[in-house]
Amino acid sequence: MEEYLIKGGKKLDGAVKISGAKNAALPILAAAVMTRGENVFTACPQISDVSSMLKILQSLGCKVDGSKETVSVDASMMNRCRIPDSLMKEMRSSVFLAGALLTRCGEAVISSPGGCDIGKRPIDIHISGLEKLGAKIEQKDGCILIKGNKLEAADVIMPYPSVGATENIMMAAIGAKGTTRLINCAREPEIADLQNYINRCGGKISGAGTGVITVEGGRELKGCEHRIMADRIEAGTYLLMALATEGRVFLDGISRPLIEPLMRILENAGYDIKSSQEWIWASYTGGRNIHGIIRTAPYPGFPTDLQPQMTTFLAKAGAGAIIEENIFEKRFEYVKQLKKMGADIEIFENKVIIRNNNILCGAQVEAQDLRGGAALVIAGLMADGSTVVRNTKYIKRGYGEFTEKIKGLGGEITVNEN
Ligand code: EPZ
Repeated sequence: MEEYLIKGGKKLDGAVKISGAKNAALPILAAAVMTRGENVFTACPQISDVSSMLKILQSLGCKVDGSKETVSVDASMMNRCRIPDSLMKEMRSSVFLAGALLTRCGEAVISSPGGCDIGKRPIDIHISGLEKLGAKIEQKDGCILIKGNKLEAADVIMPYPSVGATENIMMAAIGAKGTTRLINCAREPEIADLQNYINRCGGKISGAGTGVITVEGGRELKGCEHRIMADRIEAGTYLLMALATEGRVFLDGISRPLIEPLMRILENAGYDIKSSQEWIWASYTGGRNIHGIIRTAPYPGFPTDLQPQMTTFLAKAGAGAIIEENIFEKRFEYVKQLKKMGADIEIFENKVIIRNNNILCGAQVEAQDLRGGAALVIAGLMADGSTVVRNTKYIKRGYGEFTEKIKGLGGEITVNEN
């Protein structure tokens, strides 16, 4: 089992090149199965979730090539519609393939999706949206069989702005005759990136980023070139990591609006923040204590994917602060581990309360999910002494070149196989 060995207490100082967004790359790679001809994706993040998705595309008969951040996918000769169970379980975003496979093959077979254990992760909103378009759903031996080769456009009113369900229904609507509207859909920027990619392939989708997305069905999609948008969660993670060690960081290739809620909190607390369309620079200034309540919410609210990293940062910079988690019901697993390092924080219902600002002490801790694992690495870097973070496989799902980028900031982190 691989683990990170971290020596804390150093002020991080340096620059990080922000990679392509995991949560844009995954639905876009899924959408590629609807196209004919070669797609070339640049700025594709080098993370295990992307490798898993590419393995799934290959298992369906797609031609996949590429190295580093440039990946080519050609689905012209795709000849299977069933995702192998072993691969389906590897990550949740395999469920995104349902809509794309329905459009390509008229059917899809998915099993209960895998992914991080941050909650029940139901897919009822996905299913009801696909049924609205005329798909027939059957549950059999732990699999979900979805059939629909004559999908009809419809107005799909979503009970909750689920990101994955929005993306899935968008892709299924491409195979539906007529114009579909998704109402009360998610507004995350990664959905706009998916829309831009599909339109570049010849699709006709509008409204991403608003609460109503309109999809014109029945259009042929041709492979194209597409650069994956920057990863706002990676950027926010390194921003909090540097400031948590009382250091500074230059984030290259990210624009401020993508992480505005975090920027506003830090600016109001007196941290030194500068930015342009292409970069963000931030420096510790002995900022004022951050208190009050931070609530996670669907975009453009504070992102749930930065909640564990924010809590860790506030363990030393936010006595009295409260972080309320409103998206996932089990996204506090890392708190127990932080308490082992001396964090004076307490869970109360769906909130974490920062009682006091303790200096953290190094300890042996276990990552149990992607963002909680990243938060424990931040804790190790800001703590006195040495920390071992186990189960690094969770972190590698969403952070490429993680230890290299931390070393580039002057952080002392090494990889140990034990
Ligand atoms: C996407 O997950 C992201 N993953 C998550 O990032 C992110 O945390 C989440 O959106 C919210 O922003 C990818 O894009 C690959 P949801 P998704 O459907 O689509 C409930 C990370 O760390 N729900 O918006 O699974 C669900 O249980 C990952 O990068 C239903 O009830 O999120 C949750 O409570 C973690 N029924 C809430 O909605 C459904 O059918 C939000 O889920 C679907 C979702």
